[in-house]
Parts: sequence; structure tokens; C-alpha cells
Amino acid sequence: MSDSTEGRLAGARSALERLSTWVPIRSLSRRHRHRVIDHLLALEGQDRYLRFGYPASDEQIRKYALGIDFGRDEVLGIFNRRLHLIALAHLAYGLPPQGEPARTMAEFGVSVQPQSRGRGLGRRLFDAAALHARNRGIDTLFIHALSENRPMLRIATAAGALVERDGGESAAWLRLPPDTVGSQVEQALNRHLGELDFQFKRQAQVLSGFVDSVAELKAHFESSGRAAKE
Ligand SMILES: CC(C)(COP(=O)(O)OP(=O)(O)OC[C@H]1O[C@@H](n2cnc3c(N)ncnc32)[C@H](O)[C@@H]1OP(=O)(O)O)[C@@H](O)C(=O)NCCC(=O)NCCS
Repeated sequence: MSDSTEGRLAGARSALERLSTWVPIRSLSRRHRHRVIDHLLALEGQDRYLRFGYPASDEQIRKYALGIDFGRDEVLGIFNRRLHLIALAHLAYGLPPQGEPARTMAEFGVSVQPQSRGRGLGRRLFDAAALHARNRGIDTLFIHALSENRPMLRIATAAGALVERDGGESAAWLRLPPDTVGSQVEQALNRHLGELDFQFKRQAQVLSGFVDSVAELKAHFESSGRAAKE
């Protein structure tokens, strides 16, 4: 088999693998802010500490969420069938690293609700955020994590990030390659599929609400009919 055929087969295999474990990720906008707040407020003490680097109070969480600039940053979410936001990532576009004005950087922060962890959602959000950043011309993804945060540091190192530990705190830096037509198409496709998935779940929810209402009405008329006969 020639090298180019093998290369194409390997590409097709990895595309199929990605498709078989595909997770719908949606870009969130201003109108999802209340969902972002609810998701973050539902995190308990230790998770808040890991997510923000300090035990954030409800007020601090609200302040953080109200401060998210949806026009500048990228906010990505994963919804379950009931349209609850079960995982959330914030990619904040910021200033270049100190002393390196030519570089461009974005900071990644993530949280997955406890009952949905260990299913690869955190890593999926990381990959999606890296793709968004790369397509925006960002060359470095920065992650600030506590050194005890093994899942977060595992995600970062598995992606090839350089981790600098400073006692209880760690900083991870991931260099991103420049965008390509392929990376742009991949992001556009994911965006489209994520949107379709959300709309599908919404329709399913409306339909299920309608079926419940019909069932309630039917039960009501049946019991009124029985009462009238007695
Ligand atoms: C960090 C967090 C987002 C990970 O989410 P998740 O969906 O459970 O992560 P994944 O399922 O993608 O797992 C990521 C990796 O960590 C590994 N991992 C999970 N728990 C681990 C643990 N306790 N110790 C070591 N590695 C662990 C997984 O095996 C996986 O590695 P692999 O892909 O090589 O198998 C989640 O734990 C969380 O929300 N924590 C609270 C908030 C937080 O810490 N945010 C990060 C700081 S910004």
C-alpha cells in the first residue's frame, strides 16, 4: 500500500473514531447567561475552589458570570436531553504573555457537573476551545489550575501543554498550530451539528410536554365522565 493511501486511510479512521464518540457542543451567547449562572452556582465548595482557584461565593460567581463578554470571548456548553447545561467552558481572549507582544493568548476555564464527569466531556470542551482559539489566530492556550487538579492537568498534558508547577498552583501553556481550511471546516461543522442537536432536543421537549398535556386532559375527561355516570 502506498504512503498516500495509508495516510488517507489513517485520516478516515481517525475521522470515524471522532464521529463515533461525537459530543454536541454549542456556542453560547448572552441569552444563555442565566444558564451559565445556574451551572456555576450548582458547583459545590471544592469544585468552586478548583474552578476559580479560590472558594468562590455565590456573589463572586454571579459577578464573574455577569462579567463574561460573549461578544469577545467564546463560551461553549454541553446540554443534556432536558436541556440542562452539564458542562461549560470559557475561553477568554486576552492580552499577550508578558514580554512577548507578538504572541496571542487565550485562557481556558472549564467545569463539568459532578454526575457527568469521567465521560470525556472536559477533554471534548478543551479540544473544541483549542480549535476555536486556533481559528481565531491565537497561538497559545493558557490554563491556570491548582496542582492538585489531576483531571485538568491530565487534559492539558495529554494535549501537549507545558506545565509549570509553582507549589500549589500550576500554569499550563499549549502552543497551537496555525489554522487551516480543515480546522475552519471542522469548527463550522461542529457548530452546525451542535445547533441542530440543541434544536432537536428542544423540539423533543416541546413534544413530550404536549404528550403529557394530552394525557392529563384525557385523564381529566375520563374521571369527569365517570363522576357524571355515578
Ligand atoms: C476538570 C474537569 C472539568 C474534568 O472534567 P471531566 O469531564 O471529568 O474530564 P474527562 O472525563 O475529559 O477526563 C479528563 C482526563 O482526566 C483523567 N482523570 C479523571 N479523574 C482523574 C483523577 N482523579 N486523577 C487523575 N486523572 C483523572 C481522565 O482519565 C481523563 O484522562 P484520559 O483522557 O487520558 O483518560 C472536572 O473534573 C471539573 O469540572 N472539575 C471542577 C472544576 C475544575 O477543576 N475546572 C478546571 C480548572 S479551570
